[in-house]
Amino acid sequence: MANAAYKAARGLCRDFGEVEQLQVSRKGPADFVSSADHKAERTLVEELTRARPKFGFLVEEGGEIKGEDSSNRWIIDPLDGTTNFLHGIPHFAISIGLERDGRMFAGVIYDPLRDELFWAETGGGAFINAQRLRVSARARLGDALIATGMPFKGRASHPEYPVMLDSVWAATSGVRRFGSAALDLAYVAAGRYDGFWEFALSPWDIAAGLVVLREAGGIVSEVDGGDRMMESGDILASNGHLHEYLRELLAQAAAAGR
Ligand code: IPD
Ligand code: CA
Ligand code: CA
Repeated sequence: MANAAYKAARGLCRDFGEVEQLQVSRKGPADFVSSADHKAERTLVEELTRARPKFGFLVEEGGEIKGEDSSNRWIIDPLDGTTNFLHGIPHFAISIGLERDGRMFAGVIYDPLRDELFWAETGGGAFINAQRLRVSARARLGDALIATGMPFKGRASHPEYPVMLDSVWAATSGVRRFGSAALDLAYVAAGRYDGFWEFALSPWDIAAGLVVLREAGGIVSEVDGGDRMMESGDILASNGHLHEYLRELLAQAAAAGR
């Protein structure tokens, strides 16, 4: 998984350099970025197929690719943080999850510009490159730094979202919206953020992050506490200590916002 990510990352980094140039041209980088995205996906599918010929895929651009082995499936986002990439903002990642018998089993999230590989296998702990990952120990909301993803153009509206945001920024030491859900989860796993919530994500945004976060000692649920994150795309991730506080805060805000 790491080798596939490294290989696809080389192309992405080259293309990111081009985007920085295209930024100033009138045509703009949109078509170019979508081709960078497709190229990275092709490389990942090729490399992983070479390594495990029978596994299936669920990939953002190409959809479902059935494999002979029905218990193993790669769930991939070749470029998470496309809007950042498009605007020349250096914050994006490749996300590769491995689902085994319907449960997320392993995950790799690679930030090529910082050369940070977040990875984990169920039962084996979580790592950043060769170093062990651990969630933060912060247990007071007032000390916590929380990440989120805001609904944007074309997404289902969430009338309660602004009320949630309002109550989280009032209760914590800050809120961040960096634009890559995969890295948001990796950063909670690394103890950089203490929590993260977002609605209506896709399975490839969170597949790898779920494993990395759990293996780093964090907790992940739906925003309302349920456990169907891969189906609903609604997610609340935390260092564990703050999970109930955050869930409660968001529930109260949601009730007030309806
Ligand atoms: C997006 C990013 C972003 C999140 C969006 C996702 P993409 O993925 O993860 O942080 O807010 O909901 O769609 O489109 O850059 O692969
Ligand atoms: Ca994504
Ligand atoms: Ca993507």
